Amino acid sequence: VAPLKVGIAGLGTVGAEVVRLIEAQQSILSARCGRGIKVVAVTARNKSKKRGIDLRGIDWMKDPLAVATHPEVDCFVELMGGAGDPALSSISAALAAGKSVVTANKALVAKHGVKLATLAEKHGGALNYEAAVAGAVPVIKTIREGLSGTSINRVYGILNGTCNYILTRMEQEGLSFAECLKDAQRLGYAEAEPSFDVDGYDTAQKLAILASLAFGTKVNESAVSVEGISTIAAEDLRAAADLGYRIKLLGVAMRTKTGIEQRVHPTMVPLTSSIAQVMGVTNAVTIDGAGIAPITLVGPGAGGAATASAVLADVADVARNVRALPFAQPVAKLKTTTKAPMERH
Ligand code: HSE
Repeated sequence: VAPLKVGIAGLGTVGAEVVRLIEAQQSILSARCGRGIKVVAVTARNKSKKRGIDLRGIDWMKDPLAVATHPEVDCFVELMGGAGDPALSSISAALAAGKSVVTANKALVAKHGVKLATLAEKHGGALNYEAAVAGAVPVIKTIREGLSGTSINRVYGILNGTCNYILTRMEQEGLSFAECLKDAQRLGYAEAEPSFDVDGYDTAQKLAILASLAFGTKVNESAVSVEGISTIAAEDLRAAADLGYRIKLLGVAMRTKTGIEQRVHPTMVPLTSSIAQVMGVTNAVTIDGAGIAPITLVGPGAGGAATASAVLADVADVARNVRALPFAQPVAKLKTTTKAPMERH
């Protein structure tokens, strides 16, 4: 069987790790997929940057569109980020050409997911975005495939590694917010624009994606009520601890009588709860299904290796020709939420 030929746009922390892993894990991947996986074309903003990966034998293209439409590429992997172009136009071009797409781009999926999934279905390619939510934690596959027979009432959790890392280090080491954020950036956890992390928008985008899959709503980031952690001070963490609580930035989506409510805000969780034990860059997602006890997935939510793991799983699905169920068809009504107060969970 011919190998799956992959083109990658974006060679930052994640993209470089994907190239490295495809090479380093060739035998595992081909055993699991029944065929090899080969990177044939790449592009990035800066050609001469040192990345510690071997790009010999791979076509260096002038722009993302050239990778997406490269005649040999079967699977276009978009790791540039950003809700607009060039990510949107190159993904659209790849899908329109019948290729499959793997992306880690939550902003894009949250904004254009339905349109892109429709394009993928029309032309026969796949659109996979496991890496868009919770890094290595396979929460998209869990909701979409593992729980496809279960009615879901609520999905909630810690969806931003940077915020959880900041809150953890502020509490444990007494460091300032700014210092912790700087470290999160250095470690490759934070978004290019870190206010997306700390102001809660990254969590909101991920929550909107999960809600659309869990409830069959149209993915809609603007229906999420959002409050971030930038106003949280060390004294707040101490005061919460004195009362027996820890502050976590949670995303919560749930069924209510009037529609699906989605909100993101700092939340006091009891110190004895399992969610309070989730520290550092770790993410945790709990899914409450009707008739079954809650299911919680916990694991690394950001960083090159964690995100690359999910990207590779999506590429492997393309290689194996495993197709996801169609993207959420609007079956439930979304509620446009108002700002929610701090509350317990
Ligand atoms: N900036 C994101 C985070 C990266 O910190 O969770 C992973 O989506």
